[in-house]
Amino acid sequence: MNAIADEVTKEKPKTIYLKDYQTPAYEFEHVNLSFQLNEEHTTVSSSIDVRVQRKKETLFLHGDKSMQLDAVLVNGTQVADERLTRTNAGLFVSGLPEEDFTLKIVTTIKPQENTALEGLYKSSGNYCTQCEAEGFRRITFYQDRPDVMSKFTTRMEAAKDKYPVLLSNGNLIDSGDADGGRHFAVWEDPWRKPSYLFALVAGNLAKIEDSFTTMSGKKVDLRIYTEPHNIDKADHAMVSLIKSMKWDEDTFGLEYDLELFNIVAVDDFNMGAMENKSLNVFNSRLVFATPKTATDADYAAIEGVVGHEYFHNWTGNRVTCRDWFQLSLKEGLTVYRDQEFSSDMNSRGVKRIGDVSKLRAAQFPQDSGPMAHPIRPEEYIKMDNFYTVTVYEKGAEVVRMYESLLGKDGFRKGMDLYFERHDGCAVTTEDFFSAMADANNTDLSAFKPWYQQAGTPIVDVKTSYDASTKTFTLKATQTVPATPGQDASQKKAVLMPIRVGLLDKSTGKDIEIASVNGVAQEKGTTTAVLRFDQKEQTFTFENVEQDVVPSILRNFSAPIKMTTDLEEGDLLFLMANDSDPFNRWEAGQTLFRSLLVKLIADETNGKALEMNTKITDALRKTIEGAKAADADKAFIARAMMVPSESELVEMLEPGTVDPDVVKAARKFVMKSLAADLRPLLEETAKANSAPAYKNEPADRAMRSLKNTCLGYLSYVDAPEVAKDALERYQNADNMTDKIATLSALSDKVCAERETAFDAFYQEWQHDPLVMCKWLSLQAASGVPNNLGNVKALLTHPAFDIKNPNKVYSLIGGFMSNPTTFHQKDGQGYEFLADVILQLNDINQQVAARMAGGFTRWRKYDPSRQALMKKQLERIIATENLSENVYEIVKKSLD
Ligand code: PHE
Ligand code: ZN
Repeated sequence: MNAIADEVTKEKPKTIYLKDYQTPAYEFEHVNLSFQLNEEHTTVSSSIDVRVQRKKETLFLHGDKSMQLDAVLVNGTQVADERLTRTNAGLFVSGLPEEDFTLKIVTTIKPQENTALEGLYKSSGNYCTQCEAEGFRRITFYQDRPDVMSKFTTRMEAAKDKYPVLLSNGNLIDSGDADGGRHFAVWEDPWRKPSYLFALVAGNLAKIEDSFTTMSGKKVDLRIYTEPHNIDKADHAMVSLIKSMKWDEDTFGLEYDLELFNIVAVDDFNMGAMENKSLNVFNSRLVFATPKTATDADYAAIEGVVGHEYFHNWTGNRVTCRDWFQLSLKEGLTVYRDQEFSSDMNSRGVKRIGDVSKLRAAQFPQDSGPMAHPIRPEEYIKMDNFYTVTVYEKGAEVVRMYESLLGKDGFRKGMDLYFERHDGCAVTTEDFFSAMADANNTDLSAFKPWYQQAGTPIVDVKTSYDASTKTFTLKATQTVPATPGQDASQKKAVLMPIRVGLLDKSTGKDIEIASVNGVAQEKGTTTAVLRFDQKEQTFTFENVEQDVVPSILRNFSAPIKMTTDLEEGDLLFLMANDSDPFNRWEAGQTLFRSLLVKLIADETNGKALEMNTKITDALRKTIEGAKAADADKAFIARAMMVPSESELVEMLEPGTVDPDVVKAARKFVMKSLAADLRPLLEETAKANSAPAYKNEPADRAMRSLKNTCLGYLSYVDAPEVAKDALERYQNADNMTDKIATLSALSDKVCAERETAFDAFYQEWQHDPLVMCKWLSLQAASGVPNNLGNVKALLTHPAFDIKNPNKVYSLIGGFMSNPTTFHQKDGQGYEFLADVILQLNDINQQVAARMAGGFTRWRKYDPSRQALMKKQLERIIATENLSENVYEIVKKSLD
């Protein structure tokens, strides 16, 4: 029964469809797992209490082909071979009893050889697991689907000296010594859960401890485990955890439900972190932080992700997904929750700007490319490929729109009803939608297409003021572009909230909005929420006494691409006056974007590039604003940022993009601004250089502003600039400043660059996480012949192809470096394909992510297109291609 027939091994990748969903015929009430962890192999026994829901059906247990199946017993009796059929994907068991029964399965696995980092594997010599989405099937045969929820009891046994710490979900109910220098622990999780939330850790780990008393007075022990030499780096994560627990009580009334909460940091992890019940496993990148080793951005990311995983305890664990098509049910909602948490802990406006920038730079491109999919996809080959910016970030935007449409209180009512109805259940995005609509007694049916339609809606707005009727009119149209499998004609208009404010032209202040389309607004309203749900719709603001400048889509109230008839003067006015921080920033971005698109056209046509000095002047005013006593410096730093190259690429026509041209245009703008504003930039950098590091909001804001100024100054071609950067590098007392100065040098060909990079290596070569920064800075560098450098780094001791963080830093950094990756001779493409094929045999999830570098090939000019396509064809023609890589490459070529 162990032999898998050859034809089976060569099975074609199979597509899974949402429409095929069926409830399970067998429910698993209770699972008793037992692990014998040995160096050569691990034995896993699983004993399951099965409840028969539909009699006589064949039971399908998922199970990876890497496992050895030792035994299958039903009610204690070995099942005859003819009732077992093993395939590539699992095991069919037929002839089962019609009454409830116990099923026992024994497998042997080899965690020490597991480089995919799914299921049970070893990282730095310690055992750990990763089961989402479909990793549990590499541990044992099981109905590895989220709608099968069971109570788990886990016993594990291992050598006591090498693995003194033994952890699993829930509560420790027994532990002790065993024969041969071994010991054991038994953990019981009282909460029913799907297999993807199972976790086990065994290793030599140190811990820090704290506690939290919940709002109903229950004490929870909090522990963070790391390898002993990193234990001094976990304090910030602990503080973040405590803040998260408090925030969820204050904001949603959600309390933690066990007496213990553990976090374990591991170095080898495919993703950021994992919300396993009471035993979160984290990529160490999202736990470790000291001022010397982590940047301000790292600190913020840790706070956000610790919150994210903790918040999953309710949105994901207590209420989970019926099937993986519903992933956004937990991820979109939990991202929304972590964004809100970070906004409350830090500056809300700055957080929003960062989130929208990410959406534009990463999600919009996905939504207009061959991998475009709705936030609730309808088909997949490998679920791993659908942990996307669309499901996560666009999913969070969709949740945010409920909040905008229903108001904060209405949204909270919807959340309360959602938990009241579905606690302990595996549900769908439809259920979430119904809870929101029902709790507010409102018809949201026009909102549904957000779940079904892929593609970023395009909204155009025309405005006019009529002095005779004192009305201000806003005419909006919406379309959703065609995406794979969905033509434009199929797409419906979708309900979206458009937040609008009106600024008095003479004072720049918001006017009070009395009524819109005859509907009176609440007294004191300065931002109206328009419900836009038709292809074409007109909104008339009444009693508008004087002409105004509209601020449209405040706080980016819908994930759309919007064009308006606002003119340069209006945008400059909004940039200076808008009370909405997002739109104040956005006005500047809109100006930058239109300038850059024009410059890209000019550069393409061989015209001389010319700076728009009004933008320079506006930016000067923005920077000068930093001198005010109450200046929001973190915001000013954000407002100084010029749209990224990837955001610009997204704005250009398919088949036309020459990354060299995009880069040249952007560089021209940066150089002009740096040259024209040099004294101000230098003065601001100086005024915001603190004598010593402090990790306080005001200090972080100063660093951010200072480093943004230094980033600009790095565009000035003068020897003293490099000298100053090196000096600042040498004097920096924290990682934020080290990285800022290093990146200011990284595009320059000069001795200072070499000195700084060498010094950094000498200082940090012992720290793999810090080395990731060193790798990614070099991968992203614009120095000539950088491809050679990247290739050389592949064999450098600082690199390790088996470690995802290292791959994301070096190869991921290289992929998003237009000059190196897109170099005209196609050698960058060939190199990436080589690496993907190498990774395909090591870690398929990571390989597939790297294959994402090719998905947008149709965007580029014909010669680059041909070169990229050639590599895609070479990859797909390779034997033993993983389903992960196959799916990405196939869809890219289709
Ligand atoms: N569920 C995790 C999160 O977003 C992400 C994850 C997915 C981790 C798959 C590992 C594997 O919080
Ligand atoms: Zn998540």
